[in-house]
Amino acid sequence: MKSFRVMFICTGNICRSPLAHAVFEHLVKLEGLENNIEIESSGTGAWHVGEQADTRMRRTASEHGVRLNHRSRQLQRRDLSDYDLLLTMDLHNYRDTLALCRSEEERDKVAMFRDYDPVGGGDVPDPWFGGMDGFEVVWHIVSRTSTSLLGAMRKKLSA
Ligand code: 4NP
Repeated sequence: MKSFRVMFICTGNICRSPLAHAVFEHLVKLEGLENNIEIESSGTGAWHVGEQADTRMRRTASEHGVRLNHRSRQLQRRDLSDYDLLLTMDLHNYRDTLALCRSEEERDKVAMFRDYDPVGGGDVPDPWFGGMDGFEVVWHIVSRTSTSLLGAMRKKLSA
């Protein structure tokens, strides 16, 4: 089986992408694919580098049985060559990530995370300025999209 490297990208790397990182990692381990799929997350901005995920995001994840232990890091230019698939949480992140690309090959690796959402596409809404209900919405989107992403990746790995 081939191995594959996936990077989840949001703005601060303290809410949406660390959640996707942890949820996807959890699913990958449940399927015993941890030696085949490598997972990382990052933010397009540097404001929170080194910080743990937002307390509200950690609380929501933990209520659903998932633990977040990532420290924020900023997306680097070399990530575009190091990773096979770079999935962005919203259109701003998508454009900022594409702006770092230096070839068509790199641009082809960038997509919107919700392209894999079985219910609908578009942005994973930024929960940072809102209330706890926004974090719960993010949880549901990330959780179902991660399941369908893993299905798609399984096919790629065994192709
Ligand atoms: P995230 O949320 O991109 O899901 O981690 C945000 C966190 C912080 C900021 C923006 C979005 N901020 O502007 O500091």
